[in-house]
Amino acid sequence: MSLNYTFSIIKPDAFNTGKAGKILAHLESQGFVLKAARVMHLSKKQAEEFYAVHRGRPFYGELVDFMSSAPCMPFILEKANAVSALRDAIGATDPAEAAAGTVRKLYAESKGKNAIHASDSDENAVRESRFFFAESEVV
Ligand code: CMP
Repeated sequence: MSLNYTFSIIKPDAFNTGKAGKILAHLESQGFVLKAARVMHLSKKQAEEFYAVHRGRPFYGELVDFMSSAPCMPFILEKANAVSALRDAIGATDPAEAAAGTVRKLYAESKGKNAIHASDSDENAVRESRFFFAESEVV
């Protein structure tokens, strides 16, 4: 059975341009329920650690610099089959390839500045949720 929650981040590009509320409303209208949220400015060290799985990739430095460049909004959402449901709702990494109606098609600028992160497996949803939230912060 798959997990009924997943982890997400509204990235600095979307947060900085006032799109956080619109993105959240879009996801809530699709049945996702907010279980935890925070607004924060990631340090470079936190961004490096969070994206450690991508260390060595050509875009890693750019990704870390971007994610630590301005505030963002980490959050946890609940829904049946949450990980795949949210991946479907946000669309492809590159907004140019994202399907109509997805968050990235509607709100993202580019492959790097792509508005939102979502965990890509149940294992990562658990790890990433714990990275940002204590159990007592999840309703
Ligand atoms: P995200 O879902 O946050 O997980 C890893 C991120 O790396 C991804 O979204 C993109 O923002 C970023 N990424 C992946 N491929 C590239 C790329 N070719 N150039 C820049 N950033 C990338």
